[in-house]
Amino acid sequence: MRRRTFLIGAAGAMGAAASVGASVLMNRFIGAAPRLAKRQKLKMPYLIDANKDGKVALAAMAGTFDFGTGVASQTLGYNGAYLGPAIRLAPNAEVPVTVENHLDELTTLHWHGLSIEGAYDGGPHQPIAPGGVWSTHIATRQAAALAWYHSHAHGRTAPQVHSGLAGVLLIDDGGDKDFGIPNSYGEDEFVLVLQDKRFDAFGRMRYDPSDDDALLGFRGDTIAVNGQIDPYLDVPPGLVRLRLLNASNARFFTFSFADGRPLTLIGTDAGRLAAPLPLDSLRMAPAERCDILVDFSNGSAVMLWSRPDSNSGMSLGPLREVKNTLNTGHFRSFPVLDFRPSSTMKSSFARIPSRLNPAPAQIDRPVSQTRHFTLDMSGGESGMEGMTMKVRMTINGQLLDMSRSDFRVALGSSERWIVSTVMMAHPFHVHGCRFKVISEDGAPPRSENSGWKDVVVVEKQVELIAEFDNPANDSNPYMYHCHILEHEDAGMMGQFSVGGV
Ligand code: C2O
Ligand code: CU
Ligand code: CU
Repeated sequence: MRRRTFLIGAAGAMGAAASVGASVLMNRFIGAAPRLAKRQKLKMPYLIDANKDGKVALAAMAGTFDFGTGVASQTLGYNGAYLGPAIRLAPNAEVPVTVENHLDELTTLHWHGLSIEGAYDGGPHQPIAPGGVWSTHIATRQAAALAWYHSHAHGRTAPQVHSGLAGVLLIDDGGDKDFGIPNSYGEDEFVLVLQDKRFDAFGRMRYDPSDDDALLGFRGDTIAVNGQIDPYLDVPPGLVRLRLLNASNARFFTFSFADGRPLTLIGTDAGRLAAPLPLDSLRMAPAERCDILVDFSNGSAVMLWSRPDSNSGMSLGPLREVKNTLNTGHFRSFPVLDFRPSSTMKSSFARIPSRLNPAPAQIDRPVSQTRHFTLDMSGGESGMEGMTMKVRMTINGQLLDMSRSDFRVALGSSERWIVSTVMMAHPFHVHGCRFKVISEDGAPPRSENSGWKDVVVVEKQVELIAEFDNPANDSNPYMYHCHILEHEDAGMMGQFSVGGV
């Protein structure tokens, strides 16, 4: 019965097919990959050192930005036209923060991956009105990791993040050098913030989700790295560290190098792995972060590619097969970044370190609770109206209700969460904790998921154990949700408090 809404009758199918034809033409026109004048050198987000500065001041603002198409697109950014600065923080940072909202709509700033109290988390319960300021602070205690910050405005996260309200947080414990991990920002350590985009015939970025995008999440047909399309990067002829953030609304990337050289994973969302993990290809779902090492010591240039999106909703029934032909962006491979080793650049590290972390992720506390979550895209009674599908994006059958606390977790406890889904994969994220994946679809977790995480792809069922070490009261609860932003905005989200029970 759950699949009922996705089955369409003959009349509906013909109607859909007619509109599909028109949309294909529109997509060909609108979605053609923009022609670029010339390939540009990749720029890094500018770096703010919060420890040195003793404070962080951010302002969300609207701007115009050229992705390389030769014309200005309407974008959003923090302290600039598109995206935000990279912010370096100590693992036990205590810094005052101001976030100004220069937009003409409400926004929030969520610290995704910071171990921080609910009242400072920046989710939908800490809105910043247009023209307003959020005076807050960061007080964390956590391991070295790559976290990020982004808008979490209620019902408006997808357009705001897609437009550019995102940036990275480098939680730096000063130990990288000891482990032989490059950490000279912009020299042998590079931040890559990835978003997929669509452009119109004039070369302007467009966020115009169709019904299909509302169902599957918005996917573009062009990849932007730090806001640049098809750039190149000069790297030293040695070991190079790439810190990747998938800041896309819905796209799953699968990265690999054209010459098959490995991507060596050294860290995931919430910390370093125990030992380096060489991979032929690396999948990244929205909101996941990966810290990788790449060896360029042979001096040859190489292209990083992303394969077709693995999460194109193939199990969504007959309707999907029609629609899959629509979005060409699902099935294409994309050149992401052209690496060019340069003999004039200094290389400080030659070999992949053998050990990374003396305190690898392990569960050492008893589990006090088991909870079950089902992420669902089922139809309500309304089903389909004409060609518009009314699909409810729920968790355990419920849409997000900002005034409902779904449950309470004991402060300092660990819990087992079993998260299930059908139809398509959802990247599941939990605020206010870090977790370890215990099983995926009944099997031991993939080795990429052996470290600390805060987002995990749920294909069928994932079992995780999460540690909750910060309080969050009922008026400032933590959120848990699908990180496909169109799903999140549509209600596939819940909230919980953490405290004494
Ligand atoms: Cu990346 Cu609830 O967020
Ligand atoms: Cu988060
Ligand atoms: Cu989802």
